[in-house]
Amino acid sequence: MAFPIVRHRRLRQNAAIRGLVRETVLTVDDFIQPIFITYGSGVKNEISSMPGVFHFSLDTLEEELKEIVELGISAVLLFGIPSEKDSVGTSGFDENGIVQEATRVIKSLYPDLLVVADTCLCEFTDHGHCGMVHTFERDGHVHGDVLNDESLELLTRTAVSQAQAGADIIAPSNMMDGFVYAIRKGLDEAGFSHVPIMSYSVKYASAFYGPFREAADSAPQFGDRKTYQMDPANIREALREAESDVQEGADMLMVKPALAFMDVIRLLRDQFDLPLVAYNVSGEYSMVKAAAQQGWINERAIVTEMLLGMKRAGADIIITYFAKDMARWLRERN
Ligand code: PBG
Repeated sequence: MAFPIVRHRRLRQNAAIRGLVRETVLTVDDFIQPIFITYGSGVKNEISSMPGVFHFSLDTLEEELKEIVELGISAVLLFGIPSEKDSVGTSGFDENGIVQEATRVIKSLYPDLLVVADTCLCEFTDHGHCGMVHTFERDGHVHGDVLNDESLELLTRTAVSQAQAGADIIAPSNMMDGFVYAIRKGLDEAGFSHVPIMSYSVKYASAFYGPFREAADSAPQFGDRKTYQMDPANIREALREAESDVQEGADMLMVKPALAFMDVIRLLRDQFDLPLVAYNVSGEYSMVKAAAQQGWINERAIVTEMLLGMKRAGADIIITYFAKDMARWLRERN
């Protein structure tokens, strides 16, 4: 059957019909809002490369949480900026570390708001890498290798301390081999077998993290992350990464970044049955904000289209700095 019997425009002729046949919908239940928590007091500073996103100290967090909860958002993802850094990231697994303290504050104010803890060391190490490093000098430059198995122990301690503080979900973003297994074992042994792991399974070494590294003060001080994060040219490797995480006990898989990796989201959706998370990262946010500030694009329409695309590609959950904006826009539409 073909034209003139078939006319695709019949189902597009008005908003009501378009609504009936719409295949993908965004709801506030889809979103996780990232939050940056810093040491000090009285802090609410806008991150210059991420307009509308702030650093909060523990005492200014409440107002932000209230807004998030009132908008109906059910989960936040925590990133911490500690006052002290060292070579092994001690402040990451300190029971009084910034993420642990923030978790306690959130759980005491809003027990039902899910706290997702990003488990990594790059915000807590003075060299800015995601694990322990072995450094050496060559040609007057500092070089370093990130030590895989040694780092697993520190990352596991970090995850356990986050769970002890009350984190509901552990989201390891470090890209060491075997991190899901190590953290699962550590959590289980510490009595947290009920705490799910949302694994950053397929995390690319991406320039789209640029604004985040300013926000989290976590840029590597030498080298880059290409020996542990994935090459953006690869997709078969994404299957191997995800497969390992499934075997090691991950409860949810993630693809990060999202926009330039929609094919990877689709592939993982088709190949695995676990809930799938897309991380709409800092650079994807900042590009839109910058263009919107110039008046070059319609922000709301662009964000809606981007997030719909991620969901249509197969994501069940979207981590996005637009969560609050989107929740507001969805409410206005209803
Ligand atoms: C920590 C981590 C990063 C992001 C989330 N967790 C930075 C990185 O790997 O360099 C990036 C998030 C974003 O850009 O929004 N490893």
